[in-house]
Order: sequence, then structure tokens, then C-alpha cells
Amino acid sequence: MTDTTTQSLARELCLKLYGEDPFAGYVPDLPADLQGWNSTHPTLARLVQEVRPRVILDVGVWKGASVNFLCQAMAKAGVEGAVIAIDTFLGSPEHWNRERPDRIFESLRLRHGLPGLYWQFLSNMVHRGLQDRVVPLAQTSENAAPILRRLKVKADLIHIDAAHEYEPVLRDARLFWGLLNKGGVLVGDDYPWASVARAAQAFAAEIGQELVVESPKWILRKPR
Ligand SMILES: C[S@@+](CC[C@H](N)C(=O)[O-])C[C@H]1O[C@@H](n2cnc3c(N)ncnc32)[C@H](O)[C@@H]1O
Repeated sequence: MTDTTTQSLARELCLKLYGEDPFAGYVPDLPADLQGWNSTHPTLARLVQEVRPRVILDVGVWKGASVNFLCQAMAKAGVEGAVIAIDTFLGSPEHWNRERPDRIFESLRLRHGLPGLYWQFLSNMVHRGLQDRVVPLAQTSENAAPILRRLKVKADLIHIDAAHEYEPVLRDARLFWGLLNKGGVLVGDDYPWASVARAAQAFAAEIGQELVVESPKWILRKPR
């Protein structure tokens, strides 16, 4: 459990979004499973130390491994804050591939055709005791950005790790850059993907900011 200030920020954001607490009355129905990719990269922890974010947007969370790591990093840095966890919880094109030898398709936990990632995510958050820090937002990145804008939510740190094709990465960078406070940092994942690198480079050129690569993470800072 975290302190009262942190609780009230996450609750405040949940109330703004839902009018209630989405964790209220939820009993985890799945065992902990924090499968993820590059979710515990040291760059994420270092950026939390540096930025001391009040609000983090994690765009593309899968089962919540990066959300968990960002929350841990905030606690370690003594930062009171909330992580808004944005995902369709439907998986990305690379997961919808029954031919992958790692059988990632099974991780989608389809039930009559609908993935069950959200329940794994929510269970994980409760197992880790993160209800007071995490605000789930089960939406496309495209819808989440205007929803947050309308609620006047801005972030100090944004982690982009949703779809990895060129157009969606560029779109997400554009959408979420607008929600980043001055002095804030946008960090993306999977720079080794050619499509991600091209989009990151195109966006950096578009906004005229230096692109820093700590592979697989890529970083853009918003001037004060
Ligand atoms: C690579 S996974 C995220 C991994 C996660 N950051 C971790 O800790 O390992 C990508 C996630 O992005 C989500 N996603 C893909 N396209 C999306 C979109 N347009 N809007 C929201 N989520 C999306 C998928 O459902 C999937 O859970």
C-alpha cells in the first residue's frame, strides 16, 4: 500500500474516468503472470528517478509487467504518483499468429474468440498491491489520447509500447507528445524493429528534438 497522497491521485483519476474505482470488489481470478518484453529495462527506472513523474502514461501494457516495474521505480524513488495503463487488452498483430513457436497466441486467453488479457492484467495489479497507483484504461491509444485530453490529464513520463508498425508508432508518438508536460520525457520500446526506428526518427525530425537511443528504448525530451 502507498501513502494517502498517492491513493488520492490514482483515485482522483479513476473517479474522473469512471465515477468509481474499477478495482472495487475485484477478486483476482488468475494467478500472477508478469510475462512481458523489456519491461524491466534500467532506462525506465533511471527516467523515473530523473523526471520524478506525478503521472505516467504506459501505452501498451499487455499483462502489466512494465506498469509493475514503473510503480516499483516510483516507490523506490519516493515519488508519489499514478500510472495510467492504456491497452485494448486485445493483443497486437504479432501476437495473433498461431504459427509462432513461442505459442504467444495462447497467452491471449481467448474465450469464445475474445482475448482475456484484461483479467490477467487486473489480477496482476492486485497481486502486486498496486491498486492505489494504477489506473486501468481499456482503450485504443487513438481513443485514450482524446479521452485524457478532455479530462485535462497531462503526464510527465510516457512509455510507448503498443502496435509496432510504422504508422501506429508515428501516430502514437504524435498523439501522446501533446499530453506530455514541458520538461517531460517520452520513451518508446523496440527500437531494433525497423518500423519503430523509422517512426521514431521521423517523429524526432518532425518536432526538431534529439532522438536518444538506449536500445531497445528510444527517448525524446520535451523542452521546458
Ligand atoms: C508488446 S505488448 C506491451 C508489453 C508491455 N509493455 C510489457 O510490459 O511487456 C503490446 C501491447 O499493445 C497493445 N496494443 C496494440 N495496439 C494498440 C492500440 N492501438 N491501442 C492500445 N493498445 C494497443 C496490445 O494489446 C499489447 O498488449
